[in-house]
Amino acid sequence: MRKPFVAGNWKMHGSKASILTLVSDLNSKIAEIGDVDVAICPPAIYIDYVNRVLAGNRIAVGAQNMAEEANQGAFTGEQSVAMLKDMDCNYVILGHSERRALYGETDSQIATKVDVALKAGVTPILCVGETLEERESGVMESVIATQLDAVLDVVGIESFDKVVIAYEPVWAIGTGKTASPQQAQEVHAFIRGKLSGLNADVASKVVIQYGGSVKPDNAVELFGQPDIDGGLIGGASLNANDFIAICKAAG
Ligand code: PGA
Repeated sequence: MRKPFVAGNWKMHGSKASILTLVSDLNSKIAEIGDVDVAICPPAIYIDYVNRVLAGNRIAVGAQNMAEEANQGAFTGEQSVAMLKDMDCNYVILGHSERRALYGETDSQIATKVDVALKAGVTPILCVGETLEERESGVMESVIATQLDAVLDVVGIESFDKVVIAYEPVWAIGTGKTASPQQAQEVHAFIRGKLSGLNADVASKVVIQYGGSVKPDNAVELFGQPDIDGGLIGGASLNANDFIAICKAAG
């Protein structure tokens, strides 16, 4: 059985004051959540602060990106996986569509980053997903397959039970347009089926999150689908009540 996993992607939001309020609220409500893994991914500069406010409770902390280089070097503005580990960061979101579209991250860079994260023992949350144009022109599956293949070619299927996949249709991110539970399930089944063709045992263990306008009122139905194992939550993760309600829905 796969354990559901819900992660909050705060993107570039927050201040010390707002984070203190949000994380304190999460601390006081976390006991309401059942058997679900939970992580929050603040902007990198706040990772240490979030960890200190969490004070060792069961919520894990993740980053939203990291460098391809594993350790240190002349890479102005970057953070390495060694630094994330050093700051008790257990997850890293990689290949988010905003990184792909706004910062030109390529499949090959993302594959390298997944490899670097795995080697350091930090769990990558690998985002894949199609644009509306790609969905409407019928190339959705090949787009997602290409995104997955780039990573599979570098790390191999055997490593994928340590990778979390987040299916995030680009047209559903921050738009209020959620994929219907059926649309999402269809793609999740496609992803699991593709991995299953390579290694059925690994495929049965891979956690595949759905992301894109998940809210408390659509989470239960989405997470009720057989191949949806939780969510990667943007906007709603900035509100403690909403995020906790979504985590409960995964339980
Ligand atoms: P959203 O973002 O929940 O605000 O749509 C999801 C994401 O980008 O990870």
